[in-house]
Amino acid sequence: MTIAVLISGRGGNLRAILESSVGELVSAVISDNPKAAGLQTALEHDKAAYSLSPADFDKHSDWENKLGELLEAVQPRIIALAGFMRILRADWVSRFADRMVNIHPSLLPAFPGLNTHRRALAAGVKEHGCTIYRVCEKVDGGEIIAQKKVPVLADDTPKTLAVRVSAAEHALYPAVLAELISKV
Ligand code: GRF
Repeated sequence: MTIAVLISGRGGNLRAILESSVGELVSAVISDNPKAAGLQTALEHDKAAYSLSPADFDKHSDWENKLGELLEAVQPRIIALAGFMRILRADWVSRFADRMVNIHPSLLPAFPGLNTHRRALAAGVKEHGCTIYRVCEKVDGGEIIAQKKVPVLADDTPKTLAVRVSAAEHALYPAVLAELISKV
């Protein structure tokens, strides 16, 4: 009953997961970016950390196949995308869709895609937040599992809002993973 976490960058959600009660269930951390700070965080927590860069493969599909092989070898019960910045092709996604979840920094279906905090402020919304959803072929379009709201304050900038949303993410993701694991 293990969790694989896929990252691309700083790994704030990864750290929150590793420091939570489900941290001991994380069996592998995989990054598409060799420079991702989260790889170091994984090692600090004695986790297997794999760097798999698409730049080292001739074709995107070769990289995807390798990522698939790695996941088949690790056999996680849940694949948690946490700031994983690659779009995966539909046929690859369908192989793992029954066990793959992602976190997104907005209250989906509002603001899919990038720059969510800036767009939320431009839209003048009073509430913002984060969403955990099941990954499907449609980017940021999968079934919503859980959301956590945060207020938008009058003097917010994208930066201050991002800090508030990150804190919500770090509370929500470990809790949702614990819940999902308890059901399998
Ligand atoms: C988070 O805001 C997450 O919702 C989005 O990418 C960001 C990753 O941050 N998908 P971190 O690497 O977990 O700190």
